[in-house]
Amino acid sequence: MVTEQTQPEVNIGLVGHVDHGKTTLVQALSGDWTDQHSEEMKRGISIRLGYADATLRRCPDCAEPECYTVEETCPEHDVDTETLRTVSFVDAPGHETLMATMLSGASIMDGAVLVVSATEDVPQAQTEEHLMALDIIGIENIVIAQNKVDLVDDERARENYEQIREFVEGTVAEDAPIVPVSAQQEVNIDLMIQALETEIPTPERDESLPARMYTARSFDINRPGTTAADLLGGVIGGSLAQGTLEVDDEIELRPGREVEEGGSSEYHSIETSVRSLQAGGQSQSEVGPGGLLGVGTGLDPSLTKGDALAGQVAGEPGTLPPTRNGFEMEVELLDRVVGEGAVEEISTGEPLMLTVGTATTVGAVTSARTGECEVNLKRPICAEEGAKIAINRRMGARWRLIGVGTLTE
Ligand code: GTP
Repeated sequence: MVTEQTQPEVNIGLVGHVDHGKTTLVQALSGDWTDQHSEEMKRGISIRLGYADATLRRCPDCAEPECYTVEETCPEHDVDTETLRTVSFVDAPGHETLMATMLSGASIMDGAVLVVSATEDVPQAQTEEHLMALDIIGIENIVIAQNKVDLVDDERARENYEQIREFVEGTVAEDAPIVPVSAQQEVNIDLMIQALETEIPTPERDESLPARMYTARSFDINRPGTTAADLLGGVIGGSLAQGTLEVDDEIELRPGREVEEGGSSEYHSIETSVRSLQAGGQSQSEVGPGGLLGVGTGLDPSLTKGDALAGQVAGEPGTLPPTRNGFEMEVELLDRVVGEGAVEEISTGEPLMLTVGTATTVGAVTSARTGECEVNLKRPICAEEGAKIAINRRMGARWRLIGVGTLTE
């Protein structure tokens, strides 16, 4: 590994219904670690993306599972704990209107914790919709946290456990362990870490391939009133799926930005260089895949402000997939939409919201046959053949997940 020890090596998503305790669980698992972020990273990534790094550890003198901890010193034995690995937690919003954010976050997750509150019947709407999304995006390494067990009695906890088991039967989470926890009271956090260690291995990635980074966020880290001479370049945040990035590397971003020319507009890719790298709360000279990165660039910060470059793909110039204004895809529809009933076939002319990697765009269907369709995009995407697409349809006031596509051309 070319990466320094502090770089997180795996991204673990926290998904589930609103208020079931995802953020509280991330806090319980990340200990003091997030405090090591610079203020910019805190403002830029933790807050907007719901992002925190944690180093998972074990005490050499404690038995399993009590040995698993995030503390650097074992309170029981007063010895230094051993580092297992550093992980990045990606905290997906549970509110129904934020499904697009959840879907683009899911594209950079290597595994996920589905947080289910023991105080409510199973499934709540986004418990179900998020699980479907994991299935669609192909995230198979899942741990279920049965949270808020401090608020229920034994009987209710058991009943709720059975409801969860029944609910996940036949889904991608069928064999996932269910770990009863209280994120707020920090109960069973050791069992949770043990489950993360066994169920969500660090994926094998190829650092010899050209860098490919999926941008989930972008920001301007300059404080208001900074003079031109002190202005820092725009920052992009995301995850490398392959390859490495070094300070001073040239990078290209696709689809880039919209350029108006003679009444029409088209997207031109952007080229810049890497000025600084942050991972695991520290500056790095070189980073590899795994964990969320902050990449300082030479771009005008007004270009990166307010997530303007979220959804872009970054990498070595000339190695990125094509920019597409439309594409054909094979379509597999879900049997039903959560809370809405059966999914009807896609029809020509209808608008769809499509999430490809970290990019979300709206497309109009120009031709539809059973099992495939062609779309024309409002905003282009950078994607290669075989890319998975989460397909959403407008139903009432919001977009609902209706199926998965595979880009064919
Ligand atoms: P969204 O990000 O909005 O989807 O919510 P969330 O799933 O991240 O929930 P969050 O962590 O914000 O928790 C919601 C509320 O539940 C907060 O008031 C927490 O303090 C409380 N809570 C979370 N976990 C527990 C728990 O284990 N026990 C108890 N008693 N309360 C909890």
